[in-house]
Amino acid sequence: MNSFGKIFRVSLFGESHGPAIGVIIDGCPPGLPLRTDDFVYDLSRRKSGGKGTTERNETDQPEILSGVFEERTTGAPLTITTNNSDRISSDYDQFKNIPRPGHADFVAGIKYSGFSDLRGGGHFSGRITWGLVVAGVIAKMIIKPSEISAKLISAGGSSDIEAALEKVLVEGDSIGGIIECRVHKPAKALGEPFFYSFESAVSHVIFSIPAIKGIEFGSGFAAAVMKGSEHNDPFIDRTGRTSTNNAGGINGGITNGNEIVFRVAVKPTSSTGIEQRTLDFEKNEMTLLKVGGRHDRCIAMRMPVIVEAATAIAMADLLMIDRGIHERSGNS
Ligand SMILES: Cc1cc2nc3c(=O)[nH]c(=O)nc-3n(C[C@H](O)[C@H](O)[C@H](O)COP(=O)(O)O)c2cc1C
Repeated sequence: MNSFGKIFRVSLFGESHGPAIGVIIDGCPPGLPLRTDDFVYDLSRRKSGGKGTTERNETDQPEILSGVFEERTTGAPLTITTNNSDRISSDYDQFKNIPRPGHADFVAGIKYSGFSDLRGGGHFSGRITWGLVVAGVIAKMIIKPSEISAKLISAGGSSDIEAALEKVLVEGDSIGGIIECRVHKPAKALGEPFFYSFESAVSHVIFSIPAIKGIEFGSGFAAAVMKGSEHNDPFIDRTGRTSTNNAGGINGGITNGNEIVFRVAVKPTSSTGIEQRTLDFEKNEMTLLKVGGRHDRCIAMRMPVIVEAATAIAMADLLMIDRGIHERSGNS
C-alpha cells in the first residue's frame, strides 16, 4: 500500500540498504520531453553533503527503465531507479529487541510480524524520498506555468539557521525546522470538495514524508485567534486577487488563483549522538541505547525540495482530475 494519486499515480519502492530504490509513475501524459539530466538539479538539492547532513554519499544517478522513448514520455508507466551503493549495515538486528525511540522499528515489527528490513530504517528511511523528488520533477513539468519554491525559514526555533546548526553539532544532538512553501501563478479551481480538497491532497503527500509533524495553510493556527473581519481576504479585482492572503490561496478546498502558501514542521532527527534510556523488550528492562550510523543532524535542511515535489505531485493529480489528462500534453 504505497501509492498516491487518482490519475497521476506515484508508487515508491525500495529499502535504505537494499540494492536499489525507485518510483513508478502511472498516468503521466505522453509527449513530455524527459531525459535523466532533467532530474539532476532537484536531486542535488536533496543530496547530503552539506554541514549537518549525513556522511552517506550516494551518486543518486537515475536510470529510466520504462515509459520514455526517444526522450519523450510514452504515456505508459514510468519506472525510474537508482542504486544504493554506499551502504553500511551495522547491527540493526539489535533494534528488534531494543526499538530505537522515534523510529519506525517498533511499529514495523508489529505490522510486518518481524519480517521488515530494519537496515538503515528499511522502507521507512528518508532515502525513499529520492523517488518522490524524481516524480516531483515530472509533476513540476505538468503543472507549468505554476512554480513552486520552498525554503527552510527556521531551524531549532531560530531564524539564524547557521548558528542553530553550529550549536547542535557541538552538542551532538539534532534539531527540527520549519519549511515555507509557495506556489506562484497557481492554476485556479484545483481541489475536489470534500475529501480531495486542495489542502487534503497536499497534506496527504506531505505527511507521507518521514519526519513531517505539522502543516498550516495561510495564516494557519494563527487564524484561531483572529477576528473574522481580519481574517477574510477582500477581493480587489475581477480575477479574484485579494488584498490579504490569510487563506493561503485556497477557499472551500479549491485554489482561488492567489499565491498558495503553507508551512510544514519537521521534527528533530531521531538518531542522535546522545545516549537514551529505553526499553529492552526481550529482557523487559530499561537499558541505555546509543544509536550509531551516519545521520542528518537537521533533516529539515534537505526537506525543501522534497516538500516542493510532494506539492507538485498533488497538484498534478488535481490538475488532471479537473482538466483531464490530455489537455496538458497538448493532445486535446
Ligand atoms: C530526507 C530525510 C532524511 C532523513 N534522515 C534521517 C537520519 O539521518 N536519521 C534519522 O534518525 N532519521 C532520518 N529521517 C527520518 C526518519 O526516516 C523518520 O523519522 C522515521 O522513519 C520515523 O518516521 P516519523 O518521524 O515520520 O515518525 C530522515 C527523513 C528524511 C525525509
